[in-house]
Amino acid sequence: MKKILEKLEEVFFGHVGICILLLCVVPFIFVSHGLFRGIEIEQTPSEAEMEDLIVVGFSQLGSESGWRTAHTLSVQEALTKDAGYFLIFNNARQIQENQIKAIRSFISQRVDYIVFAPVIESGWDTVLQEAKDAGIPVIIIDRMVNVEDESLYTTWIGTDAWKEGEKAGKWLEGYLQEKQRQEEEINIIVLRGTIGSTAEIGRTKGFEEVAAGHRNWHILESVTADFTAAKGRDVMEQMLRRYPKIDVLVSQNDDMTMGAIKAMQEAGVSFGENGKVAVISFDAIRDALELVEAGRINVDIECNPVQGDYIHKIIQMLEKGEAVEKSYVVEENVFTKENVGEFLEDRTY
Ligand code: AHR
Repeated sequence: MKKILEKLEEVFFGHVGICILLLCVVPFIFVSHGLFRGIEIEQTPSEAEMEDLIVVGFSQLGSESGWRTAHTLSVQEALTKDAGYFLIFNNARQIQENQIKAIRSFISQRVDYIVFAPVIESGWDTVLQEAKDAGIPVIIIDRMVNVEDESLYTTWIGTDAWKEGEKAGKWLEGYLQEKQRQEEEINIIVLRGTIGSTAEIGRTKGFEEVAAGHRNWHILESVTADFTAAKGRDVMEQMLRRYPKIDVLVSQNDDMTMGAIKAMQEAGVSFGENGKVAVISFDAIRDALELVEAGRINVDIECNPVQGDYIHKIIQMLEKGEAVEKSYVVEENVFTKENVGEFLEDRTY
């Protein structure tokens, strides 16, 4: 009997031991490998850290796309303790109210700077006034805010979304000419990002302005899929059911494009350089650039997420009392099968 009990104990503690070990070790491996980085980390600085480091509250709008993950990492990798910062990170999960709460919490923590990527353009006047009244400089990144008083923020670092939309339109003009289809009736579906965000407003306007110059371009529908792959797939499924002839898909980010591609594959509709539907995408993250190289996406208009170093440089200038510009636009490219190879090797995101 004693032997049986000993055996049971050995087996039981063996399993429990393994479970306990896994419970302790797995999260450690995740954290130490940065697998949680850019998603949830939120910390409070100690008194000493408040004294010695530049405390930055960073309100990120969400984690909806591959681009967003790269954007978050770029900020986290630039504003490190080694570089002299204490970064408080908050993920708003695409909800404006969460960003407002985060900014208020940064104000009450008396951070030195607030960095924030606004989910949409409107509705920020009150909270930014509160930051201004507290004497905290605000650096806006990625998307823009639409406020009455521009002195409510110090500077903006981002991308030119209108230009990106225009580039998409110009590419399509060239493509149709090359294929000698410039007189043909061209049916277009536009998948838009989060309604009211700078990326959605700018890309839509920029493309529509070029489209307005072509009476044979027909935008059948211009609908949101919220910048996510899941919605991109759903919305494209509906479009494919509704319209028998789609010539061009303009998808305002790579995640929605990936979803739409799945929908086209499932529906047996060909796309890309040898297919029925020409695919125009935005962002240029690595996975999508591989599809450009494979001829599955015709063109990818870059939206550059590497904005962390700009923030660092601007904060350093402000610390020295130097004047900064009101806006900084990051550099962006256009990728097609012809040029993508030379950039793909160095693409880390
Ligand atoms: O604001 C930039 C856009 O937001 C990127 O195109 C998209 O992927 C992200 O979600």
